[in-house]
Amino acid sequence: MTNPKVPFTYGKIVNTDAFTNRENELAKLLANLKSGINTIIISPRRWGKSSLVSKVFAELKDEKKIKTVQIDLFSIRSEEEFLQVFAKEVIKVSASKLEERIKLVKEFFKAIIPKFQFSADAESEFSLSFEYESLKKTSSEILNLPEKIAEKKKLKFIIAIDEFQNMADYEQFPKFEKKLRAEWQNHKNVTYCLYGSQNHMMTEIFNKPAKAFYRFGDIILLPKIKKEKWIPFIVNAFKKTGKSIGEKNAGLICDLMKNHSWYVQQLSHYTWNRTNKKASKKELQLALTELINGNSPLYEKEIEICSKTQVNLIKAIVKNQKHFSSVKVMKDFKLGTSNNVSKNLKKFRENGTIEKIDNKYELLDPAFEIWFKKQFFNVKTESYF
Ligand SMILES: Nc1ncnc2c1ncn2[C@@H]1O[C@H](COP(=O)(O)OP(=O)(O)OP(=O)(O)O)[C@@H](O)[C@H]1O
Ligand SMILES: [Mg+2]
Repeated sequence: MTNPKVPFTYGKIVNTDAFTNRENELAKLLANLKSGINTIIISPRRWGKSSLVSKVFAELKDEKKIKTVQIDLFSIRSEEEFLQVFAKEVIKVSASKLEERIKLVKEFFKAIIPKFQFSADAESEFSLSFEYESLKKTSSEILNLPEKIAEKKKLKFIIAIDEFQNMADYEQFPKFEKKLRAEWQNHKNVTYCLYGSQNHMMTEIFNKPAKAFYRFGDIILLPKIKKEKWIPFIVNAFKKTGKSIGEKNAGLICDLMKNHSWYVQQLSHYTWNRTNKKASKKELQLALTELINGNSPLYEKEIEICSKTQVNLIKAIVKNQKHFSSVKVMKDFKLGTSNNVSKNLKKFRENGTIEKIDNKYELLDPAFEIWFKKQFFNVKTESYF
């Protein structure tokens, strides 16, 4: 629950008061999922994928004939683990009573018999476990479970899988990927919403003609929330808690954080926290310093694991260089060989540090950029005001 006294939220999925804008994406995702169109959502980290899906699912809550399942792959490290969680979650939403769940398990599992465990006092909690050896052989039965239950019970399922790119780390993922696609594409009553960050990895899975998931569904490249939308959100959030901030200063928060969802909320929060009545540049400036200082241990760690040529590449990016393989830029910024440059660019793109936007590489983390400039070019945070 969001605390009504604190109008900004970050670090958590937002789907109520702290959620703003995204009308178009909301409408599109809701319409897609209700009409059976599989949808893939891709954006860099912390722009708001999970919050968007959570908001859509909240709107689907009262639909009696639609069962929704949300699975987060964040801590699911293998195909076997995934199959177990998938089966459990599907059973869980298909029936609320323990006896019904046991009945479903008996009815729908033929090739594989799960162990069903539950505690006597909490009817809603139960666990399903399978013989690990047999899981792979009988994965079809599990993967088709929602479709089978849907047919039988005249229901529809919407299944959302967060951090989908993590599957790429599973052993033998290419094989599993083909299997998933082969089964899921036959489902008439189940719609999938697959989303994740690391644009590079997600694009690799969903947008390569040679890959199994190519054209599996609609791809939404989630954009940032625009400044015009953030400003009234920030101004109102201050207002409803008895404080105020001018549009100009609210706009400055957006500019400093380059409209990055998480950071706009964080900087707004720090500013709001320091404000008694009306936020001025002074509070904003202190808030920015607080934000940068607070995050700096993380940024230091990121730099620690970089090689010299990698740090130099970030310097070149921060200095708005474009042609990293030009002899002059390589020499001026000490980027190493052109082979170093392409390897380093690849690494940074894969780990989500940079992204090519309008034909130019940019750092994806706006606060890291401010910290980096302070650290390596002595640009003081006060100079932004
Ligand atoms: N629609 C929104 N309105 C206001 N703030 C938002 C919105 N969406 C996201 N945020 C802010 O951004 C933060 C990150 O959002 P969320 O966790 O949904 O992003 P994500 O893209 O799923 O991130 P990750 O890639 O790390 O999983 C939230 O905690 C919230 O502060
Ligand atoms: Mg997320």
